[in-house]
Amino acid sequence: MPSSKAGMASLSALALVLLACVHDAHSARPTTNPQLLKLNAKAIRPVQLATQSAAVTFPQYNFTQPLDHFTNTGFTWQQRYWVSDRHYKPGGPVIVFEAGEGPGDERMPILDTGIINILANATNGLGIVLEHRYYGESVPVLNFTTDSLRWLNNEQAAADSANFISNVKVPGISTSVTAPGTAWIYYGGSYGGARAAHMRVLYPDIVFGAIASSGVTHATIVDWRYMDLVRQYATPQACVARVQQAVAEVDSFLASNTTSAAIKAVFGLSGISYDPDFASLLSAPLGGWQGTNWDPAVNDPSWSEFCAALGPVDTATVKAQGLTISNATAAFAKYINETYASSCPVAQQDECFGTITNKAQYLQTDLSQTWRLWQFQVCTQWGFFMTPPPDASIPRLVSNLLTKEYAELTCTLSYPPGEHFSIPQWPNVTDVNKLGGFDIAADRLAIIDGQADPWRGDTPHSPDASNRTDTTLRPFKLIPTGVHHWDENGLADPSQEPAFIQTIHQQEIAFVKAWLKDFKPSS
Ligand SMILES: *[C@@H]1O[C@H](CO)[C@@H](O)[C@H](O)[C@H]1NC(C)=O
Ligand SMILES: *[C@@H]1O[C@H](CO)[C@@H](O)[C@H](O)[C@H]1NC(C)=O
Ligand SMILES: *[C@@H]1O[C@H](CO)[C@@H](O)[C@H](O)[C@H]1NC(C)=O
Ligand SMILES: *[C@@H]1O[C@H](CO)[C@@H](O)[C@H](O)[C@H]1NC(C)=O
Ligand SMILES: *[C@@H]1O[C@H](CO)[C@@H](O)[C@H](O)[C@H]1NC(C)=O
Ligand SMILES: *[C@@H]1O[C@H](CO)[C@@H](O)[C@H](O)[C@H]1NC(C)=O
Ligand SMILES: *[C@@H]1O[C@H](CO)[C@@H](O)[C@H](O)[C@H]1NC(C)=O
Ligand SMILES: *[C@@H]1O[C@H](CO)[C@@H](O)[C@H](O)[C@H]1NC(C)=O
Repeated sequence: MPSSKAGMASLSALALVLLACVHDAHSARPTTNPQLLKLNAKAIRPVQLATQSAAVTFPQYNFTQPLDHFTNTGFTWQQRYWVSDRHYKPGGPVIVFEAGEGPGDERMPILDTGIINILANATNGLGIVLEHRYYGESVPVLNFTTDSLRWLNNEQAAADSANFISNVKVPGISTSVTAPGTAWIYYGGSYGGARAAHMRVLYPDIVFGAIASSGVTHATIVDWRYMDLVRQYATPQACVARVQQAVAEVDSFLASNTTSAAIKAVFGLSGISYDPDFASLLSAPLGGWQGTNWDPAVNDPSWSEFCAALGPVDTATVKAQGLTISNATAAFAKYINETYASSCPVAQQDECFGTITNKAQYLQTDLSQTWRLWQFQVCTQWGFFMTPPPDASIPRLVSNLLTKEYAELTCTLSYPPGEHFSIPQWPNVTDVNKLGGFDIAADRLAIIDGQADPWRGDTPHSPDASNRTDTTLRPFKLIPTGVHHWDENGLADPSQEPAFIQTIHQQEIAFVKAWLKDFKPSS
């Protein structure tokens, strides 16, 4: 999901895109590319990447995969993976990290000091990071047209992993580590977390155990809960209250054509002609919350910068562009202007921030357009369009102009029908949800979530999911105050981690070790 990298269009599509463009403190956000859309994928995808660099390098290898696991095309491609054998002893398990919707080489800290290292250390395991098809350098096609993207789907990705687990021969490891002779523990976060859960359900004979951290196992066209969870759990709450006040005020000015131009001018955005594009840009800073992390080296500071700019509650009003606005709206406008608007001259703002006013940018399909990848998955199988709440009595942090139709525009604009494939009119979430959705469950499938994670509404810890009990065989753990897969990263010296992070790591070690006692190798 959203480096803020939330997963979808709408607030997301443009808004979070822009976020990426202006903040470059953290390397997970591309910054130099003038084409805002290119930033989209990284900006809005669900995963918060660990951005610190690993102290050591790990060897990188290739594994040959077919383009299509279900129909023979004759084409193959190379899937990258990285190996840590520092804790490995023959007979130990493989602890594999699903790199999900981003380059695998950005995940080395997880192999070095994060959860893969932690679990491998505890079990004499072999640590592996596995890159996902189409991401990083594991690219099976020559361009990212609609047709070329048709092998980017959950079924093919799951089959890749199964093929890897069953057949990999790791250079330098003389014993076979394939399943079912070796226990494989599959870990993923966010989209990768859903993938981990899917692997355990789809391939129970070769995936001995799995950990879905912030795993978005419930796909949904409309994900209004994302922003609502930010509203309920983001801190400081005074900052959230300021956003709520400003958004309501802006919406009322936008609703009248005598004031809509003026309010856009207050934000330095009079060049945006389509009001939903303006409203979308205003939601950009909210994607920052999911990037907050307990480790300052991984933390995305944009949320705290935004809140600092909004300032403390102040009931004064200000005159601007002929309007009387609250101090909250004035502070919000100043932040948006300085952070986003000032990077794009008014005359070009439709080009910088527009959807329907900016169609050509959506049609670039060369391999540098990596924003097209996760967005394609969103448009075809996952959804997660971030709208305001369906019920007007629930307070909101985003404009009422951010409808699901607006969010969907990015799909229509980006993926015109090909010769061999057309995206569905709406994301078809059936294939994800038929694997269990909120109720996905299996022995040795752990569900780990964060209480303050905006993606929690799409996990088995959603307010919409049914209750479960936490057992060793089916762990079900909520990290108090945790945001997005906060168990994924760790420190070289675990005693320096906050106590609640040490706790979840210890719990994960304990249940994985307990699971492994039941492992009986078969061939
Ligand atoms: C892996 O495959 C890529 C793409 O085919 C190739 O460029 C690279 O040299 C290969 N690396 C190794 C270590 O074989
Ligand atoms: C492995 O775990 C032990 C405790 O069981 C700890 O002392 C050691 O620092 C860990 N090593 C690494 C490389 O994480
Ligand atoms: C994309 O690549 C395919 C071959 O994989 C090719 O047939 C097609 O013409 C390319 N399209 C564009 C727009 O580059
Ligand atoms: C502006 O408001 C007037 C009066 O409500 C309405 O007739 C007109 O169509 C509106 N113009 C636009 C561009 O929305
Ligand atoms: C927006 O920021 C620019 C650059 O700092 C400044 O010149 C301009 O006056 C600001 N616009 C508004 C409406 O505050
Ligand atoms: C909001 O009020 C505070 C305190 O009075 C003031 O310092 C700040 O400048 C105001 N912000 C804006 C944007 O007017
Ligand atoms: C979604 O996909 C399923 C099968 O994968 C299909 O049965 C169903 O008709 C599709 N739904 C829509 C609305 O296209
Ligand atoms: C879920 O189960 C826990 C533990 O049994 C219980 O404390 C909690 O109240 C339950 N929640 C709901 C919504 O039923």
